[in-house]
Amino acid sequence: MKLKIAVLFGGKSTEHEISIISAIQAIRSMDQEKYEIIPVYMTKNNDYYVGEDIGKIQAYQNIPELLKNSTQVVWIKDGDKVSLMRYPMKKFGNNIMLMGGGIGVPPLLELAIQLKNLPKELCPQEIIIVMGYRDAQTFLAEEFAQNGQLYIATEDGSVGTKGNVLDAVHENGLKADVIYACGPMPMLRAIKHYAQENGQDAYISLEERMACGVGACLGCVCNTVQKDAHSHVNNTRICTDGPVFAAKDVDI
Ligand code: FES
Repeated sequence: MKLKIAVLFGGKSTEHEISIISAIQAIRSMDQEKYEIIPVYMTKNNDYYVGEDIGKIQAYQNIPELLKNSTQVVWIKDGDKVSLMRYPMKKFGNNIMLMGGGIGVPPLLELAIQLKNLPKELCPQEIIIVMGYRDAQTFLAEEFAQNGQLYIATEDGSVGTKGNVLDAVHENGLKADVIYACGPMPMLRAIKHYAQENGQDAYISLEERMACGVGACLGCVCNTVQKDAHSHVNNTRICTDGPVFAAKDVDI
């Protein structure tokens, strides 16, 4: 794995322009095989930007345009590691509940891992994981347990709560600021209603048969609460506009 190196340049210095030129020359002479180099431009106001053009000298002929096409970031120190995070930072929530079943189980494990490994400032205080299975074949349960507080529901009652994920929520008195859910449509529908009734934010990942996958065939549309600004109909394309939606925005 290549060592990641951030090269900072620009900033408040009177030699702002010289700093840009020197840094880009230095980047060119660095061993690209050995290092993954991330050029980071500091504006004269000390705002930080990264992006495809940040390491290109000609892009500095039009700095406002360069900034428009780049991403503003902030530095987060986490132990002995430093991360660059997109600005403004948005916390996922303090107490998060991941709810899944069926095909929704594996993607939620990835989300749990990503959440657990966020820098401290962004990491949720509590990750509650509620997974629904048919029976005792609770695949990935061990991995989930390493990344949050795991509750299981099984249809046959062989493990955890007998019933579905919402039965497990009720039985264990679970509460969260925000829910992220993925799985079969009846489950997502029930979670949407549960979130609505309890005034909770919920984000659901919708799956649909997809043909083109690029927004052209309209084979994957789902109904929305608001009208689309362009088409003026209550539709959205899961393939290009989703697949994750705020539960309150879709009519499922
Ligand atoms: S799959 Fe064709 S529009 Fe979504």
